[in-house]
Amino acid sequence: MDDDHPAFDTSIAHHARIYDYLLGGKDHYAADRKAGDALIEAYPTMVSLARANRAFLGRAVRFLAAEAGIRQFLDIGTGIPTAPNTHQVAQEAAPGSRVVYVDYDPVVLAHARALLTSSPQGATDYIDADARDVGTVLEEAARTLDFSRPVAVIFVMMLHAIGDSDDPHAVVARVMDAVPDGSYLVISHPASDIEPEKVADLTARVNQLSYQQYTGRSRAQVMRFFEGLELVEPGLVQVQQWRPGFEADGTLALWAGVGRK
Ligand SMILES: C[S@@+](CC[C@H](N)C(=O)[O-])C[C@H]1O[C@@H](n2cnc3c(N)ncnc32)[C@H](O)[C@@H]1O
Repeated sequence: MDDDHPAFDTSIAHHARIYDYLLGGKDHYAADRKAGDALIEAYPTMVSLARANRAFLGRAVRFLAAEAGIRQFLDIGTGIPTAPNTHQVAQEAAPGSRVVYVDYDPVVLAHARALLTSSPQGATDYIDADARDVGTVLEEAARTLDFSRPVAVIFVMMLHAIGDSDDPHAVVARVMDAVPDGSYLVISHPASDIEPEKVADLTARVNQLSYQQYTGRSRAQVMRFFEGLELVEPGLVQVQQWRPGFEADGTLALWAGVGRK
């Protein structure tokens, strides 16, 4: 396993910065824009997909804080801060919510302060770590989260950056083993089996241009992340269909679901 942090290198695209470009942010360089444009050329609804993903994150966190009574969140693969961030959505519904963010990208680290603006009643923390190093993530998260109480574990649009050789299913299973019954798992994951030809084209293009590799997975492969958990309604669906609240302009190759332990 390569658990080196990506260097701050603007000559090669990084997922965090490509995603920021797709969302209309300011933290990207020419290499990221080139990769983003290649994605859009291969998959014209890519901007809508990125927005729909962010909207799903908001809906899932709101559901967990407002309806499921969750007060602790572990958001792994946070990305460059984009309001509203997880703590803002959670603390709007439940001001005492405690939120830990994890990312390994130096640009996300540079903006970590924006992730640390907690409500006075709650808490936030940022961990600069590789998600594949589960031991470090759990140890550092325990500074802020009480692992004897339910935690919502969030892997939103990040597991595609963990290749099969690093066994993303084992990474997720180890984190979920550390949280008690009543905890939740939130996943969105780029699909390989929705519009597969276009997705194969976008994968080939972006992988040539970026530091992380993009591994789309089938619905069955994404479903395996939820093994042993109970999926909440409406199950594992195309992202805009999860408790609808986002008008997508077309098909979006992104699976999304929430499971309860
Ligand atoms: C596409 S962004 C998604 C951001 C956010 N979760 C969202 O959905 O809005 C993926 C993020 O995962 C991070 N990431 C990818 N692989 C990672 C790893 N092994 N450890 C920690 N962070 C990782 C990237 O740096 C990037 O910030």
